[in-house]
Amino acid sequence: MEIKLIPLQRHGDERGSLVSLEDQKNVPFTIRRVYYLYGTQEGVRRGFHAHQKLTQLVIAVCGSCRFLLDDGREQVELLLDNPAQGLLVEPMIWHEMYDFSEDCVLMVLADAHYDESDYIRNYENFVKVVKI
Ligand code: TYD
Repeated sequence: MEIKLIPLQRHGDERGSLVSLEDQKNVPFTIRRVYYLYGTQEGVRRGFHAHQKLTQLVIAVCGSCRFLLDDGREQVELLLDNPAQGLLVEPMIWHEMYDFSEDCVLMVLADAHYDESDYIRNYENFVKVVKI
């Protein structure tokens, strides 16, 4: 599985750091939605779905978490801990997030509005669909 990690330019000086996200530039799609996960409790694992059409860019803007990607053939686990790096999650990738640090803020940019009908939330169904 090809893992697409997008480096985001950090504008840093003695005051601190700034990262800018611009659609069709460092974000490879038109941004239609932004959401973020924070205050995730210890031991929580979430995600457990794939999207049929949605593409997302995931950035740990604070703290860290682990991110599992599964294309139905191969699983890859990554540590997200860099606010200057985005992980591209394309359609039909099962994903799970876990080992959130207490301070983790996981920001997600998406190319479509929230649509429950785009979700595949059953792993067996996901595997059946990707093997067709
Ligand atoms: P959920 O799908 O359980 O998150 P995850 O699978 O990433 O662990 O989402 C939690 C709730 O938030 C659920 O009621 C749906 C809602 N939600 C929205 O309303 N808009 C969104 O953009 C997202 C991602 C979730």
